Amino acid sequence: MIRAAYLSALLSTAILASSSIAGCDGPESSLTLLETGPLGAYATEVQPHVAERCASGGCHGRADRRLRLYAPGHYRADASRLHLDEPLTQQELGENARRLAAFAHGSELESSELFCKPLALEAGGCAHGVGEVFVDWTDPTCLALERWLSGRAPVDGGLP
Ligand code: HEM
Repeated sequence: MIRAAYLSALLSTAILASSSIAGCDGPESSLTLLETGPLGAYATEVQPHVAERCASGGCHGRADRRLRLYAPGHYRADASRLHLDEPLTQQELGENARRLAAFAHGSELESSELFCKPLALEAGGCAHGVGEVFVDWTDPTCLALERWLSGRAPVDGGLP
């Protein structure tokens, strides 16, 4: 008696599970490929600004920051190269580029965290742990980021 009840419970669970798997296409994938600007332009036109204005050890040059950035003389992918004043590797440049692009992903640049954080509140910025970095949109680092990201395109499997 008990065995029969157990088997029928097992059977109805199996039927339920298989029908839900078969019928369900799963949630609509809202994942979109990250869009970045070209790496070449990043290395020559953006990274110098990032190294000077964002990536020092007390700011974004640290592993515990959501936006963590590599820079010569500061945070490095290879801990044994920490603080060595030498050029970044292609991999570190690619990671910096993707991380910066990720904070502008899926939104208009103007309203993205990448721009609103460092931008002064009076110029439309949002609160930033240490206050403003860009006085307004004419700031050279702001312009370099904007120019680079205005040419953004999906990263299709390969590195940007
Ligand atoms: C142009 C350069 C900079 C850009 C693009 C930038 C961007 C950002 C972004 C997107 C965030 C949110 C993600 C996170 O928590 O990591 C953030 C947060 C933060 N940034 Fe910056 N930042 C810049 C410069 C700086 C500098 C120079 C400092 C330090 C003096 C700094 C300190 C912080 C701190 C403490 C937070 C976390 C608290 C918060 O969310 O406001 N940032 N920044």
